[in-house]
Amino acid sequence: MGAWSEQRRDDPQPCRDSDKGRFEVISRDGRARIGRLHTTHGILETPALLPVINPNIRTIEPRVLWDRYGIGALITNSYIIWKHEELKNAALNDGVHALIDYPGVIMTDSGTFQSYIYGDVEVGVEEIVSFQTSIGVDIATMLDVFSRPDMTEEEVDHCVEETVRRAQASVDASGETMLNGPIQGGVFKSLRTKSAQQMGAFDFSVHPIGGIVPIMERQRYKDYAKVMMATLPHLPPHRPVHMFGCGHPMLFPMSVALGADLFDSAAYALFARDGRLLTPWGTQRLETLTEWPERMPCVAFTTPAEVRKLDSDARCELLAHYNLEVTLAEIDRCKQAVRDGTIWRLAERRSHQHPALREAFLWISTNPHSATFDAQFVKDMVFDDRAAARDQAPNVGQWEDAWDWLVDAQEYPRKGGEPWGGEDTLMRPHILAAKGALQRRWMPRRSQTVGSDSLLLMHGSSGPWRDRLSDLMPRLEHHCPGLEVMIQTPVGLLPYSLEDLSPFAHIDGPDWLWKRRPNLAEIREELSLYGMEHRNIIPVDLAGEGIQSRVLAALQSAGVVAGVTNEDASEVPLTKERRDEAKMRIYRRHVRDKMVVLFNCSVPDADALLEGCSFVVNRVGRVKNALSSQGHHIASPRLKDGGLSLTDNGALALHQHRKQQCPSGFNDQQRLLDGEGLAWVVVDEDAEPFVLQGRNVFHGFILGCDAGISPGDTCLIVNAKGALLGHGISTRTSNELQSFQKGVAIKTRGGMKSPSQ
Ligand code: GUN
Repeated sequence: MGAWSEQRRDDPQPCRDSDKGRFEVISRDGRARIGRLHTTHGILETPALLPVINPNIRTIEPRVLWDRYGIGALITNSYIIWKHEELKNAALNDGVHALIDYPGVIMTDSGTFQSYIYGDVEVGVEEIVSFQTSIGVDIATMLDVFSRPDMTEEEVDHCVEETVRRAQASVDASGETMLNGPIQGGVFKSLRTKSAQQMGAFDFSVHPIGGIVPIMERQRYKDYAKVMMATLPHLPPHRPVHMFGCGHPMLFPMSVALGADLFDSAAYALFARDGRLLTPWGTQRLETLTEWPERMPCVAFTTPAEVRKLDSDARCELLAHYNLEVTLAEIDRCKQAVRDGTIWRLAERRSHQHPALREAFLWISTNPHSATFDAQFVKDMVFDDRAAARDQAPNVGQWEDAWDWLVDAQEYPRKGGEPWGGEDTLMRPHILAAKGALQRRWMPRRSQTVGSDSLLLMHGSSGPWRDRLSDLMPRLEHHCPGLEVMIQTPVGLLPYSLEDLSPFAHIDGPDWLWKRRPNLAEIREELSLYGMEHRNIIPVDLAGEGIQSRVLAALQSAGVVAGVTNEDASEVPLTKERRDEAKMRIYRRHVRDKMVVLFNCSVPDADALLEGCSFVVNRVGRVKNALSSQGHHIASPRLKDGGLSLTDNGALALHQHRKQQCPSGFNDQQRLLDGEGLAWVVVDEDAEPFVLQGRNVFHGFILGCDAGISPGDTCLIVNAKGALLGHGISTRTSNELQSFQKGVAIKTRGGMKSPSQ
């Protein structure tokens, strides 16, 4: 390690007293989150890896973890300290931070794992928690009862119940110290759920998922995924989740995508001891290597051959550094992916690197009974592996809530392109969330006029389409006002009125992806979601020259002509006045459909709001602003993602359209139906003046909200009397709005200056 200059890092600053134990989320991607856990030994940013330190054998000195790697937290074992007289006395006299020589967050385990390995431990339930408190740990762990995957359901139930039975005494013994409340339940879905629900009711600070070490050791990653999916939806969302004993970087992206915040690793040292190197795609043996799997800083000046020649202690230490560096690098990749909104894609990519991980990933993303499962689309496109994953899932039909929990936390639309990753793309949760909203809310034209029995299906080319169709669309609008136009995208049909909406409009992939010939049976099935299955489908290939005349010829041969063309299929000219009228209707439909899909307006409400409105259009013909009949700016379509931004005037108008009562608290059942408008978030008197001035809403000031809010949703901020104070973008689900105590809840986009009824 000689090439390194050792620099000392400053000791951490304690958190504010009032924040101790609080967890805030500063960035998220679906269920994955970047959090900050407030402790007296620093604010720990998550996802974080806690290296396991055995107080008797230190492969890497804790001080080095802090100074060189900036590791903010570690985990050690209070039972080992308690059992060894010398360690115990030193810890009681000087505190655990001095004993370990580490200034950051120290979590301790309780001896449960020792009881799993060696049989019973002789320490008492309250005794071990009090001991951890008295040696000054930051996060203690209660003595839970380990549930093994080979246990019967009855035995596991006993572990769950006994752990719950010990919970209150442990919480009482912990005093001011933060306490881990481990979740047990083996591989039984209902017992994991029961454990999560019952343990979640006590005043714990963190919830580790216990009993998973033997599952991971046997590479039963599908069971690992099931344990997560059975547990996490039922835990209080404002508490961090720790995957007990999970230190293999291969599992991080999937775990983070499912909501894990903390990991601990003994693997970096254990694997080093028998010459194994961790990588994000599995494990490799030093003896087989000529090159490093990843060139980490600690091996920059050496080769595997040179390391093989070191004596065993030096080799073990260097490999431990190597493993730790690889592990930390994968945590960093996960964190960046959460910030970038790409964590699911990272998990998807990693799933291809190990068969057991692939099996787990396919199991998660293949959930045919979920409300968001897009049966007709996946049916003919799936490869055998997905079909097999579905057939083998023994509990098919029982997991839809968990999958919906994942999908409901997704933000859409998102800016940036959506890279095609094969069939997996279709099951990305944020794509399913966007499709779900489109399919539930978008409505075709209902008028019985020319073209209303037909559907013009554009296919064969990626967007943007508007340049190629700018001449044609006003013509169709004028001559065939009942005709619907949809575009076939690789992730489903997109109404032309929403032609710039992400992700549909921005799938980045090879050309052939867009050139897929329409499968009319499949299309008809998708159309049935909109009640359009009986329409006459008129497919037209967008690629190639002369799109306008080809469309007109196709319409003519389908009998939907009515004045678009003459007998000989030549175009009937449109006067400027008629063209402008038609364009106006197209603009209105564009904004109206965005209000329907993204603001949850009913078609009549959106139509009423846009009655007599006008539009500001940029020089390439895209709507920039929608103005009401009184000339008030009410909304702006966003160019980057096809979304819609609300203005203060728009918020006022939508507030008045609400028919439901103001939410009186957090009622899971009070979900706005499709078409019932934007969700309301009710804030208390203290927050009111700030919101009126356009300041963000913080957790702790929220009295209630509608159920069913997703991160990224536009919402109206009201006081307890239902008066409008402002509008903004939620960073949370409704459940999270209820639970969190710290951090920004709603990013306010506009304050009303004074309350408006
Ligand atoms: N370490 C690894 N698994 C467990 C567990 O289930 N409980 C506790 N307390 N520690 C663990």
